[in-house]
Amino acid sequence: MLDKKNILIGVTGGIAAYKVVEVASRLKKAGANVRVMMTRAATEFVSPRTFQEITGNAVFVEMFGDAAHFHVAHVALADFADLVLIAPATANFLAKAAHGIADDLLTTTILAFDKEILIAPSMNTKMYENPATQANLAILKARGVKILEPASGNLACGVVGKGRLPEPEEIFATIEKIFAPSTKALSGKKILVTAGGTVEAIDPVRYIGNRSSGRMGYEIAKSAVNAGAEVILISGKSELEPPNDLKFIKIESALQMREAVLKDFDSVDAVIMSAAVADYRVKNPAAQKIKKSADTLTLELVKNPDILKELGGLKNSQVLVGFAAETQNILEYANKKLVEKNLDFIVANDVTAEGAGFGVSTNIASIIWRGGNVENFPKMSKADLAEKIIERVASLLNNDKKFPAANVNQ
Ligand code: C5P
Repeated sequence: MLDKKNILIGVTGGIAAYKVVEVASRLKKAGANVRVMMTRAATEFVSPRTFQEITGNAVFVEMFGDAAHFHVAHVALADFADLVLIAPATANFLAKAAHGIADDLLTTTILAFDKEILIAPSMNTKMYENPATQANLAILKARGVKILEPASGNLACGVVGKGRLPEPEEIFATIEKIFAPSTKALSGKKILVTAGGTVEAIDPVRYIGNRSSGRMGYEIAKSAVNAGAEVILISGKSELEPPNDLKFIKIESALQMREAVLKDFDSVDAVIMSAAVADYRVKNPAAQKIKKSADTLTLELVKNPDILKELGGLKNSQVLVGFAAETQNILEYANKKLVEKNLDFIVANDVTAEGAGFGVSTNIASIIWRGGNVENFPKMSKADLAEKIIERVASLLNNDKKFPAANVNQ
């Protein structure tokens, strides 16, 4: 995990500096490139030569003195590092760092560094608890600096209390954790989302369409990307910009959508079918534009395949989620679809309710689970509802399809 990571250790003038030799040694053994910079006071406790031997790299103390290896040492050191560890960090250092004072190589380097900083304070208990020190720590924390709390115990000054530098193993473990790849809820999972409305041609110019904006499905796709999934978004008609970091497939008709969905179905972990797929298409679309002549025009429609129902028949371990946009008897119709299409859950909404349905950015939905449990959500943005849907898909995929036990009102 730490292999080839560039770690810069700043050692300030505390008695615990000797423990940091062990930290440097562990980091080096774990494969990290370690460089050390010290304050002058720190060199009173540990010789730079010790760190130099341990890390195999020159140790930097003076701002202008020992810059033989680097042209502008503080900038070069800051550029080199993926992480800066300050250990032990004295009260003086905390005060300077909190206020942007740069009066030696170490504090100047910190100011030139914009990535992760981990500070391990170590000092006498009273100095640590002094409101000035606590205020400085609060400033640093608020800036996103990570603080490794000192341990309690016997201090070098003879008192027992808080202020001891944590043991090298703990400092090492904290650094490992910082570099651990973040495991997101859908990492390693592949999710197929459909969105928008299908377009069924009447002739080369006209079509039968619907009012779907695609917004719900696009938000679901974005949410799945944010949760770490590899996402395929198959979209019918929509004015929205395709979201980033996913495979985007544009289709027009229900038949094209069916083909695209079936092509990827075997390789995905879940399908969320939020597209408004036309139930019927024109049996024989005209090859040329239909001319205005007769007083009436009859279009013969044939039923489109129900894609989700087909997936319900084909599915093995995939999680299948459907949508039911209704105008009446919502729960009853939604439940019927859930069973017919062999879904894991269905998101139902009354498209006639204010703040729900087509075109608007909010939705009022219920989730009906296989087995009949219902979750009723209040009016929320489609982005928030998308997140709820993705959380539930992730929980099904990560918990071997355990469904919630009871009816829940969110
Ligand atoms: O039966 P109904 O069309 O109302 O079901 C809605 C759900 O089924 C939605 O998830 C929609 O995407 C999906 N559907 C489908 N193929 C169709 C019609 C709807 O997959 N032909």
